[in-house]
Amino acid sequence: MSEQNVENERRYKFIVVGDMGAGKTSIIQRYTNDVFSNSYKATIGVDFFMKDLTRENETVKLQLWDIAGQEMFRHMTRVYYKDSIGALLVFDVDSRSSFEVINEWKKDIDEKVRTNTNSPIPVILCANKIDLIDEESSWNKTKKEMDTICEEQGYIGWFETSAKTGQNVSESVEFLLDYILKNN
Ligand code: GTP
Ligand code: MG
Repeated sequence: MSEQNVENERRYKFIVVGDMGAGKTSIIQRYTNDVFSNSYKATIGVDFFMKDLTRENETVKLQLWDIAGQEMFRHMTRVYYKDSIGALLVFDVDSRSSFEVINEWKKDIDEKVRTNTNSPIPVILCANKIDLIDEESSWNKTKKEMDTICEEQGYIGWFETSAKTGQNVSESVEFLLDYILKNN
């Protein structure tokens, strides 16, 4: 019984990328430990988190690689991305510059990692810190504009997320997982 469980265990590696301070570590911490901290401690290089899920009566072990956003760690991304099968690309809705670099991150992923059929890996876009937004704020993308961006840049979808409140955090990670399970 236990042997069979081990045999059935599936491991999946996701990378989480995006500009420094966009909230990657916070999203992963919310997802894996259900915690949130207001203080900012920049990720150095890379960090790892695990979460066990059940899909079709089997354990799915999700390994989340938390990639530092800081420029000085960028030369290592090829190594960090290796063998990943999905990516979350996080930007901060309260930071125009973090939005402006999403296509650079997408290009970096597409260049450095491929599926076993040599296609780009699926990427989901997280419009994070949505809890900070009120009507007067700078985030003014409509759902239609976001859908167009997804279509043009090749994201499988997008979510407005908040690591602070937990809004759409597990939804985005598991949307990506279920997309991959469905398409394999
Ligand atoms: P690097 O490791 O430098 O690449 O940054 P990061 O993307 O991992 O950002 P991190 O998760 O460390 O968050 C940066 C800051 O934003 C922290 O002070 C967090 O508390 C804050 N933050 C992250 N997500 C949210 C959110 O959804 N809402 C709010 N209000 N603050 C957030
Ligand atoms: Mg971090």
